[in-house]
Order: sequence, then structure tokens, then C-alpha cells
Amino acid sequence: RLIAQGALTWFFAKRGEPVARLLHAPWRDDPYPIYRELRDRGPLVRSKLGALVATTHQLCDEVLRDRRFGVRTSDGSYGDPTAAAVELQLSLLELDPPDHSRLRKLAAPAFRPRRLETYRERIELIADELLDRVAERGEFDLVRDFAGPLPIRVICELLGLPPLDAERLAHHGRVLAGALDGVRSTRHLRQMRESFAELDAMFERLIEQRRADPGEDVVSDLVAALDEDKLTGAELVQLCDLLLVAGFETTVNLIGNGTLALLRNPDQWARLRAEPDLAPAVVEETLRWDPPVQMTMRIAHEPLELAGRRLAADTPVLALLAAAGRDPAAHPDPDRFDLDRPDRADHLAFSSGVHYCLGAPLARLEAEVAFRALATRLPHLRRAGAATRRPTSIIHGLAALPVATNRTL
Ligand code: HEM
Repeated sequence: RLIAQGALTWFFAKRGEPVARLLHAPWRDDPYPIYRELRDRGPLVRSKLGALVATTHQLCDEVLRDRRFGVRTSDGSYGDPTAAAVELQLSLLELDPPDHSRLRKLAAPAFRPRRLETYRERIELIADELLDRVAERGEFDLVRDFAGPLPIRVICELLGLPPLDAERLAHHGRVLAGALDGVRSTRHLRQMRESFAELDAMFERLIEQRRADPGEDVVSDLVAALDEDKLTGAELVQLCDLLLVAGFETTVNLIGNGTLALLRNPDQWARLRAEPDLAPAVVEETLRWDPPVQMTMRIAHEPLELAGRRLAADTPVLALLAAAGRDPAAHPDPDRFDLDRPDRADHLAFSSGVHYCLGAPLARLEAEVAFRALATRLPHLRRAGAATRRPTSIIHGLAALPVATNRTL
């Protein structure tokens, strides 16, 4: 059904339908002109595909915070028609309260900013180690050699997983994150099943180990909760899958998109090199300007009125998080990448409301360390070839960013 839907959206994309274009290359590689076109039509737009689309910061925020919206339809199924609903195990992301609140409460303590600060030094060390390796080479792929492996190593340590094959995990991440857009082919479906089977088996082994020998990590906390019947075994494994994949699959794109933005805006790159303490500003400006998660879906749980329209129960609304970041009503001169914005953390890149990203403090910390390390250790970094985009719409990032550095510290 999803593959057929792909053919239908392609048909509409060819005929200029903006929402369909968001789902297909080449248009999705630079979706920002499409967001402008949609916003010019109003805060809530009905596309020819039938979907209702929220295009402004204010309306996206309103939908995400409104408890009359959820992620499941009234028959209990996961309502996002762009996701491979039956196959994807999205844990928190596909649950409404009260199940959502119960599970979120169990995972939340591990991701509190104060607890994560204790990881800063460790993250700096990993970043340094990765840069040591590439610095000697002169040319490298920023995504494969730095932006990708950094969050993979961090989330593995945080979950208490042994050092794993970063390439293999990156493959699972690409397969599963790509599936958020829908299943492209039977081969993709098979890959998805294989990836889940491999990750599930890995976590089942880890859960047994933690039960026998608990540690300080989040999985040990969750195993204790399992033993107190606060969640089921299947819920635990799915939550671990989500924490792992969400833990690196988005942060890689924050580091990649931010580095590309800096190299395309040499004045801003120079600002960061002169003042590395601007690294948190790079993080927030990248999240606003070119966010790794471009959109998310909500379903009306009851008949309601939104932006002057009557919505029946079970009506889906697509919230364009990335369009919100370019909304001139929220961010003056929105297309400019500018580290000096006063309002820069006021974006929806981590969503809003009950599903607000659990890993936001971790993502911010990792990306801050990454941008600071690049600016201080590789100040001569420059592009050495064309960046290539990942072939996905919801997750927005780079497949490769060839860079060169002729002098290193
Ligand atoms: C949820 C973005 C990094 C774990 C979300 C959502 C967004 C998001 C937009 C909510 C989706 C919705 O409302 O439907 C990002 C971005 C990241 C990032 C842009 C990096 C730049 C992380 C990291 C973790 C993580 C490092 C660590 C484990 C989660 C979890 C949820 C979530 C568990 C589900 C929360 C819930 O449903 O209650 N993320 N994320 N994320 N994120 Fe992140």
C-alpha cells in the first residue's frame, strides 16, 4: 500500500503539488522554497493528497501541545500514514498517554541535563580521537568519519552496549529512519525486518546481562522497572531500539547540516573559529535553519476547530517543524544563517508537547562538543567536493560531505 502511495505522490509531485514534492527528489533536497510556498497559502493548508498541513511556527506549536491531538487513531492503530505503521516499532513515538507517560517516566531520568553533563569529558575525548584519525589524512568524509561515529559511540556507552561496529549500526539507522517515509520496496521491507531482528536480539542479550549484573546505565534502570512490572519485556526492547536509533540517527544530521551551513557561510565559520564558545549558537541556529527532523504527524482525537477549519475525529495534521523554523513571523530574515540571533532556541526542531525529544540535552551536548572541536582543531576545514543528501524526507541530512584540511593543530 505504501509503495503504491509512493507512485501516487510521485505523480502529483511531477505536476507541481508542493506536499508531494516534499516526499521526492530532487525537490526534497531543498524543501525550503516549498515551505515558503505553502506558508504563503496560510497557516493550515489542504494539499491535493488530502493531508492537512500546518505551516507556521504558531500553528505547529499549537497542534503539538494540544492534548486533543495524539499519534493514534480511534481504532488504536498508529495513525501516521507516511510511516510503515505495522512494521516499525517506534515505542514512545507511537504511543498516546497513559502508556506513553508510563514509559517516558521510566526512561527520562537518564537524559536529564545534569546527569548528561557528567558525559561531557567522555564525549570530548571521543571527538578528539575521531579527529586525530582524520587530521593526518588531509581529506575525509565528515559524515562517515566524524558526524556519524561520534553519536553512535556516545549512545552505545550510555546504553551500556559494548563497542559495536559503527558501520553496521549506521546501516540499521539508515534502514529504520528511511522507513519513517514509508517502505520503498520489498527489499527495504526485508532489510527493516533484518535490522529489527538484529537489534532486538542484541538488546535481549544485554537485558539478560544487566539483570544478572546491574550497572549505572539506563538499561539497568529499565530492567529494574521490568522486574517491578512497570513495563513489559516487548516494551523494554522496543524502547531500547528507539533510544539507540533516535540517539544517533538524528544527531549525525545535526552535526552534518551544521558543518555544511558553516562552510557555506564563511563569515559565520570565521566567527566560530574566533570564538569557539559560540558552539551552542551553531547548534540552535542549525536546528532552526536546517533541522534533522523536518515534520511529524498528529491525529485529532475528537472533532475540533483548527485555524478556522472544522476537523472530524481521526483527521491527520502534518506539522512542518522545518517550515516553522523559517517562519518570518517567528524569526526575522529567516533564510539567513546567523549565529547572533537573540531568539535562536525558539524553534520546534525537537517538537513540542508530550513527545518533546527526550534526547534533546544529549543531542545539544554532542553537537556543541563537535562544533567546538572542529573549530579549534581543524580551523582550515573546507569543502573538497559536492555534498550528497540522504534519500529521505522526514529525516533530513547528508549522506556524505567531502572535506579537506591542510593544516591541523
Ligand atoms: C522524539 C528530534 C536526538 C531520543 C523526538 C521528536 C523529535 C526529535 C522532532 C518528536 C517527534 C514527534 O513529536 O512526533 C530529534 C533531533 C535530534 C534528536 C532533531 C538531534 C539533533 C535524540 C537523541 C535521543 C533522542 C540523541 C537519545 C536517545 C528521542 C526519543 C523520543 C524523541 C526517545 C520520543 C519521545 C516521546 O515520544 O515522548 N526527537 N531528536 N533524540 N527523541 Fe529525539
